[in-house]
Amino acid sequence: MLENLRESMRFRSITLDTVARKLDRAANIDDLRLLAKSNLPRGVFDYIDGAAEDEEALARSIRVFDQVLFRPRVMRDMTTVDTSTTLLGKKIPLPFALSPTGFTRIADPQGELAVAKVAAARGLPYTLSTMGTRSIEEVAAVSDGPKWFQVYVWKDRGLVKEMIGRAEAAGYETLVITVDFATLGRRERDVRSGFTLPPKLGLDTIFDGIRHPRWTWEFARSEPIRFANVSGTSDDRDGTNAVALAPFVAEQLDPSLSWTDVEEFRAMWPGSFMVKGVQDVEDAKIAADIGCDAVALSNHGGRQLDASPAPFELLPETVDAIGDKSEVLVDGGIRRGADIAKAVALGATACMGGRAYLYGLGAGGERGVDKALGFLHDEFERTLKLIGASTVGELGPDWIRPA
Ligand SMILES: Cc1cc2nc3c(=O)[nH]c(=O)nc-3n(C[C@H](O)[C@H](O)[C@H](O)COP(=O)(O)O)c2cc1C
Repeated sequence: MLENLRESMRFRSITLDTVARKLDRAANIDDLRLLAKSNLPRGVFDYIDGAAEDEEALARSIRVFDQVLFRPRVMRDMTTVDTSTTLLGKKIPLPFALSPTGFTRIADPQGELAVAKVAAARGLPYTLSTMGTRSIEEVAAVSDGPKWFQVYVWKDRGLVKEMIGRAEAAGYETLVITVDFATLGRRERDVRSGFTLPPKLGLDTIFDGIRHPRWTWEFARSEPIRFANVSGTSDDRDGTNAVALAPFVAEQLDPSLSWTDVEEFRAMWPGSFMVKGVQDVEDAKIAADIGCDAVALSNHGGRQLDASPAPFELLPETVDAIGDKSEVLVDGGIRRGADIAKAVALGATACMGGRAYLYGLGAGGERGVDKALGFLHDEFERTLKLIGASTVGELGPDWIRPA
């Protein structure tokens, strides 16, 4: 009887490593989100999770993937499935690149370094933000994978050009100009929580800190969080002069930015060039005409204009208009490998995503990021097998139907 009992019982192996134990129980990106929510102080989690105003753009960008289903084909030999593709002339193992996210160190002390390392190990492009909390050079030192640098164009063009020069010298391959930032979107969760960047441990946050002792301990003992690339002025790169987000953006954001400036950046960058934040086919045409190698359809994860279209929805007309000139990427709302397959079927060369890996980072640091990217990769591969497509190149509009 004992023998029978032993056979019918199965226990998970017990580990004292609480992070590993929690990550083991996560089944998808949403589970990582919940783990991040329980690990991080509320204001920090809301800064990552939240979006502008009523957060409709964010909700819509996620929901829109449910409006499309596959047309699965069966009885095809699925013994070998190849999930790799070519993006901007480079072979990558999955049609996915990591979007730039500022202030990554608020989720984990390693911040951008943890994310860049995992991306490199998985062979996926990592985009470092202008608002990164690790410098261009620090990230390059830990990553031999494909690296992209994202630029917010500040009034101080000298500072911007200096950063671009540093990115080129450090071996970044692609320059990404974010074009949906004429002013900072109003993220109302941050208004309510009084959250500031860099975060401050004041009386109002102490209670939250007590409830999240691991984060608070790590935050208190780590070097101060700073904009590693734009600290103070261009000759103050050591970050001793940490700059706060809201006043810096208010002072430095250049609302006069136009396509002429983008053309100028295009001309000065020798590598691949992308604009991120295009939300209309007419702008996509302009971007393609001025020589952008790629256009990322994006509403900044719903953090800027709330009444903006879901990027996924813009795919067919954009690919139709510029697909022969530029690669088209979709950024926003990617939570499943199946979302990537749907976007590629509609003509995207690849997808980009921010929160998916940030939830992983908040859930379990570097291991959590790996878990997040692993979910997306496994789900994408499983989707290809279940719909009967053995390569990424086979995907096309015939593979999907409206829900
Ligand atoms: C916490 C956070 C910080 C971000 N910071 C930047 C940034 O510095 N530069 C930028 O171009 N986009 C930034 N974004 C937008 C992302 O690059 C990307 O467009 C968005 O996250 C995509 O939506 P998803 O999070 O649903 O994948 C940020 C997004 C988040 C969530």
